[in-house]
Amino acid sequence: MSVTVRVPAKVNVQLAVGAARPDGFHDLANVFLAVGLYDEVTATPSPGGPRVTCSGPDADQVPLDRTNLAARAAEALAARYGRTPDVHLHIAKDIPVAGGMAGGSADGAAALLACDALWQTGASRPELLEICAELGSDVPFSMVGGAALGTGRGEMLTELEVGGTFHWVFALADGGLSTPAVFREFDRLTEGTDVPEPVASPELLTALAKGDAHALAATLVNDLQPAALSLRPSLADTLAAGTAAGALAALVSGSGPTTAFLCESAAAAEKVAETLSASGTCRSVRVTAGPVPGATVL
Ligand code: C5P
Repeated sequence: MSVTVRVPAKVNVQLAVGAARPDGFHDLANVFLAVGLYDEVTATPSPGGPRVTCSGPDADQVPLDRTNLAARAAEALAARYGRTPDVHLHIAKDIPVAGGMAGGSADGAAALLACDALWQTGASRPELLEICAELGSDVPFSMVGGAALGTGRGEMLTELEVGGTFHWVFALADGGLSTPAVFREFDRLTEGTDVPEPVASPELLTALAKGDAHALAATLVNDLQPAALSLRPSLADTLAAGTAAGALAALVSGSGPTTAFLCESAAAAEKVAETLSASGTCRSVRVTAGPVPGATVL
């Protein structure tokens, strides 16, 4: 018997970052949108686990040891219910690795839900979300999906209404960027300045609620973008190529290096993707849309 869970990637349509806290984390106003790029995690009973395997084009970049959030999710759930994490977790990976799209967090949420179904722990939704928050700042959103405002370090979620579908092109870059390194660069770039408290933009929340792509395009903002561009200056060329190709707006996804392009329609997204693909400024492109549901047992 095995259980497979499908889990989406995310893009941050607003990522407002405050000053570093004493614990090293940053308070955020983080507006997440789940988009239709998916990993699938299959949990199968296996003695001596958790054992992690991974398939997909970038599988060789995924750690298979206990640092993998899928393995840590299985261990955390097993510890809470006093059992051994005897499970094999196979990750079929399509979300860019270390790309700023919460791929590792997605696998953590998916593994948690898969093990929960496999072991029939009877854990409540709030309990699962509590374990998610212990695993990482973005893991609760991977579980919930849709659209949500994350505050605190991003783990305290308020679900948001979205009045339509938004069409996106994502440009994948060669190699990943380390999230802690991007936050450290943010700290370096803002040193000696007065970093304001992060607050969600009312205009952006209204644009989401209305499903208005033009209004959303005018309000997209990522405070980590200067840091990601500082560490990876070539991303500026990708952003410029997507804007020139007709995207309504372009931004770095989360801590990068994936870049995100909001488009007027599915047809417009296909055109932007074609031009971006030919521009030579990225490794590959993906066309998708959101919001989509969070982690789901198949
Ligand atoms: O929570 P998570 O383990 O995904 O965070 C990875 C790293 O990103 C943290 O160790 C920290 O360096 C940085 N981070 C942060 N502030 C946040 C979220 C993450 O500084 N709100």
